[in-house]
Amino acid sequence: MTTAAPAPKAGLEGVVAGDTSICNVEQDALIYRGYEIHDLADNASFEEVAYLLLEGDKPTAAQLKFFKDELIANRALPPQVIDYLKTVKPMVIAGSAVPMDILRTAVSLLGNLDKECQDISAEANLRKAKRLTAKIPTIIGHMQNVIDGQEIVAPDTGGDANLGHAANMLYLMSGKKPDAEAEKVVDVSLTLYAEHDYNASTFASRVIAGTLSDMHGAVTGAIAALKGPLHGGANEAAMDMLREIMKDLDGKIEKPAVEQWMRKAFEEKRKLMGFGHRVYKNGDHRAPILHKLGRAAAEKRGAEFVKWFELGEIVQQIMLDEKSIHPNVDFPCGMTYFALGIPIPQYTPIFVAARITGWAAHIMEQHANNRLIRPRANYVGPDLRKWNG
Ligand code: SDX
Repeated sequence: MTTAAPAPKAGLEGVVAGDTSICNVEQDALIYRGYEIHDLADNASFEEVAYLLLEGDKPTAAQLKFFKDELIANRALPPQVIDYLKTVKPMVIAGSAVPMDILRTAVSLLGNLDKECQDISAEANLRKAKRLTAKIPTIIGHMQNVIDGQEIVAPDTGGDANLGHAANMLYLMSGKKPDAEAEKVVDVSLTLYAEHDYNASTFASRVIAGTLSDMHGAVTGAIAALKGPLHGGANEAAMDMLREIMKDLDGKIEKPAVEQWMRKAFEEKRKLMGFGHRVYKNGDHRAPILHKLGRAAAEKRGAEFVKWFELGEIVQQIMLDEKSIHPNVDFPCGMTYFALGIPIPQYTPIFVAARITGWAAHIMEQHANNRLIRPRANYVGPDLRKWNG
């Protein structure tokens, strides 16, 4: 019998599981391929950031135009996927499927219909990455139309070719073209959500790609991982938590009452959604960027939206004062998307519409220099025993 392995790090905390040239997540900075997140949020569109992540460098004007045209040309969904999306309303009403599950199934079906699905060459992977980046917002839009009992918006083209990536997604979801501010806020949120090194869903995609399985399979697994409320699902859960607090306070935002609610939550050992992070201990670089943009958008839209930020700011101050825990990007995201009128169950699917670029970059990086990802386990089960002993 071999001697016991050293005790594993719970949740692989602090374990460096590989090299990547895509992203660096540090206490003092978040970097995508050498560019710092504030620089990108201030100066780059999501299409430019998507190109950077997928191709490795900032696009020239000509490269960006070609890339945008590629995305627009690939927005429309195959009829089989539209037919599937037309069946989802009863599943949502029954509670057996939420939008993240529907998105996961639709992406998997896209793989069944993609002639290059089994081809994991660098060239085919890049083409598939662009097709998925183009089509995921369309899946979200068409799915929302069906859930709302509305006609599917632009089923033949996947949207309006005159709209950018973020604006077209909002247009597909509601049938209304967003104003410039809503477009900008969502565009920046997609940049903030695009990539984050070996987070749970990205690592899941690399483990799948590491067996030389295909991109659609790896992305399907990543969507399943991102759904969890400890990961991407936190943006929906954070807004649900704020609505629970607001309801319990009868809509009266007074700090003592919030403190009392939080104290009860602490006593119950509740995890407050949108707070904490495995790596960031002095705050998530992305959260203040989105909070500022989201609050400004709420202030333009009226007191019924600003009140969520007023409540959220009290909650995050208490978390800081009592637990020294900072909000992560999901906390401001909930309040921001709520102010923009986005249905809460679509918050995490929109996270997917951004993170598909990071996942695809990691899947391509894994395939390009692969070694099967296969860690060891520390056996703590029963001692050796005889079946007919
Ligand atoms: C994302 O990894 C990534 O990069 C992810 C992400 C990305 O871009 O891909 O950044 C996106 O998923 C952000 C995280 C979203 N999740 C949440 O907001 C869910 C709530 N957060 C927690 O579940 C937690 O903070 C995690 C999961 C995010 C991190 O958990 P860890 O590193 O495993 O920390 P832990 O659970 O061991 O907590 C350490 C201590 C505990 O106290 P003790 O039991 O030791 O006394 O801090 C406490 C925890 O109770 N704590 C919290 C808390 N987060 C940590 N207490 C209350 N509420 C919280 N949110």
